[in-house]
Amino acid sequence: MSLKFDFTGKVVLVSGSSSGIGAATAVQFAKSGAMVVVTGRRSDKLAEVANQCTLVSPKKLKPLEVVGDVTNNADIKRLVETTVQHFGRLDVLVNNAGGATMSSLADPEFYQKFLNEMQLNLNSMVLLTHLSVDHLAKTRGNIVNISSIAGLRAFTTNPAYCMAKCSIDMFTKCCAAELGPKHIRVNVINPGPIKTSAFTAVGLTIEQNDAMFDKMGSVTPVGRAGLPEEVADTCLYLASDHSKFVTGAQLIIDGGMVAANAFPMSAFKDL
Ligand SMILES: NC(=O)c1ccc[n+]([C@@H]2O[C@H](COP(=O)([O-])OP(=O)(O)OC[C@H]3O[C@@H](n4cnc5c(N)ncnc54)[C@H](OP(=O)(O)O)[C@@H]3O)[C@@H](O)[C@H]2O)c1
Repeated sequence: MSLKFDFTGKVVLVSGSSSGIGAATAVQFAKSGAMVVVTGRRSDKLAEVANQCTLVSPKKLKPLEVVGDVTNNADIKRLVETTVQHFGRLDVLVNNAGGATMSSLADPEFYQKFLNEMQLNLNSMVLLTHLSVDHLAKTRGNIVNISSIAGLRAFTTNPAYCMAKCSIDMFTKCCAAELGPKHIRVNVINPGPIKTSAFTAVGLTIEQNDAMFDKMGSVTPVGRAGLPEEVADTCLYLASDHSKFVTGAQLIIDGGMVAANAFPMSAFKDL
């Protein structure tokens, strides 16, 4: 039996919904009857996602499209204000916008890249949440944050991203503790490799991007990368009453990658 989700009458804001996990999440919420706010910097991509949302929406509801950059505080403020002006309420906030830049401590530009990474992945989420809390309290709302298994394991290729995602995990717990009495639940999802076009944002071709995800997927116990829709389903579960006693929780969606620890047994082949 599959779970049924009904978000009729609910307003759902998904940051970073012009592609990938955020786009799939916005579409799934629209399919479940929600009034959706889609946002990102690329207006053409937003329009495509908004169109998909309208097509699957039972009442053919049109999403609100807000073009903006989450590293710009004024854009975040405008995003929340426009949402509440347009729909009159906010029920669910999915904090998904983010991305990883490759840079390690030896990189001469490391410190600036670290600051940029924190701004994009962590600071933006903190501000968007801060500005949304009063609205969510009125609706006994819900927050789902998108972290990463990079918040749980150290990757030498991008420590700043690991630190940002790890902070998101603790931010989630702090929010859950503080906002529980206001009837706002807050949870975090830690995805492993999910086949999106994320690496094209850092200059890879789509072929290189897909090859990278296929390679990462091949080392998971299930032997494949995940799909954006698989993360989206979990977002809907956490935002729904099916999980009404779940708050401050971390849900890993990684095909078993962290559990298996990808231990290099080949290192022991000569023993
Ligand atoms: N794919 C994975 O394997 C994976 C694994 C773990 C965690 N995650 C996390 O999942 C989230 C979504 O990633 P994805 O894989 O779906 O990648 P994606 O397809 O590249 O999506 C990233 C989204 O974030 C938005 N975004 C990026 N920078 C932004 C900015 N400065 N201002 C506003 N929006 C911005 C993008 O919109 P615009 O470009 O239009 O601005 C896009 O909608 C991220 O937080 C990522 O860290 C992904």
